[in-house]
This record gives sequence, structure tokens and C-alpha cells, in this order.
Amino acid sequence: MKFFVDTADTKDIADLAESGMIDGVTTNPSLIAKAGRPFADVIQEICEIVPGPVSAEVVATDYEGMITEGRKLAKIADNVAVKLPLTWDGLKACRTLSGDGTQVNVTLCFSANQALLAAKAGATFISPFIGRLDDINIDGMELIADIRQIYDNYLFDTEILAASIRSANHVKLSALAGADVATMPPGVIKSLANHPLTDKGLEIFLADAQKAGIKV
Ligand code: E4P
Repeated sequence: MKFFVDTADTKDIADLAESGMIDGVTTNPSLIAKAGRPFADVIQEICEIVPGPVSAEVVATDYEGMITEGRKLAKIADNVAVKLPLTWDGLKACRTLSGDGTQVNVTLCFSANQALLAAKAGATFISPFIGRLDDINIDGMELIADIRQIYDNYLFDTEILAASIRSANHVKLSALAGADVATMPPGVIKSLANHPLTDKGLEIFLADAQKAGIKV
């Protein structure tokens, strides 16, 4: 499973990139707004840190506007993946930009039929939003499993990018349901390494080593 980090904070991205665990980055307009710097500068900087796909989202809602913005974003770096909303115009723009050879991440997916349309439109990634479904008491994992089955039935190569992940458990369940990628905030990625028994075990080993005067 590939891990993308869901942030526009370049310090956090650089820190995580050093671990070798990061395969790409996703941003959205809310995350770019938090960065408080010009959009293109932030995306360019992120693309220099991480060689994998870096999602940059359009803010136009009409087809022509999405194409203009998408082509502008794609010029920032070869690894930009243009992020388009799952609307009818977004799907049309996905078909056109994918035809240009640009990677496209179709975002704000909340149903299996939406994911089917995105695959037919040639999306590189489909982003089902797990956490936001959970927020309204709908099982996001069932959606991931449904999309997995549909894509496998028809041999679509669109990658399932589990998004809006809020916890380590979301990551585990997405992996079990067959998501190709999980995008998550930096804190969630780091939390995957945590286990209280690891901490306790290490404490005991170190205490024993100190008592016995073990040196390496
Ligand atoms: C993914 O591409 C989105 O940026 C992100 O996962 C949204 O997460 P949220 O629902 O926690 O805002």
C-alpha cells in the first residue's frame, strides 16, 4: 500500500520524506489556505521534496475553467496530479486532462457509482472520503470494498486512494479492503508505529541492559 501525506506543510512533508515512507502528497484548498503562501510556490516546493504524485486541486467549477487551471497546475512540475471534484464537469475535465497525459485525482467521492464514472473518465486516482462518511454514520470501508470489487470486475487501473483518514484504524481497514493508497495527516502516519507494548518492552530491555552493563 502506498502512503501519501495529506498536508501542505512543507516542514512536515520534508520530515516525513526522510523516513522513506512517503510515496506522494495530497493537498486541497483548505490545506493550501492554512499554508498561507502562494499556491504555485507551495506546490512547486512540495514537488521538489517528494518525487511521487503531488495532488493540487483546481478551484474552478466549470469545464473550461478546470482545464485552464489544470493545465497551469500540471506545468508546475512533472509529478503534479491535478485534483478535480467529482462533478459532471470534473469528469469531463478528467477525460481531457488524462488525454493530455496528466495524472488526475478525482476527489470528493462518496459513492461506488461516482467511482465507476471516474474510472471510465480515465482518472489516475479516485479519492473516497472515509472520515466524512463516518461523520454522517455511513461506513466508509464498505465504500472502499465496493469500489475495489467494481474496479477488479472490469480491470480498471484507476488507483483507490483512501482519503479523509482520521485514525490508524482507518488505515488498517482501508488496507484490508484493498485500497491502493491511503492519504493521511502527518500525525496519523507517525501514529502507525505506536504500540504501548512496544514502549513497555523497550523500557524493560533497556533497564536490563543497563543493569547488566551491556554495551554495543
Ligand atoms: C484528500 O485528498 C483530502 O485532502 C483529505 O483527505 C480530506 O480530509 P478531511 O475530510 O479530514 O478534511
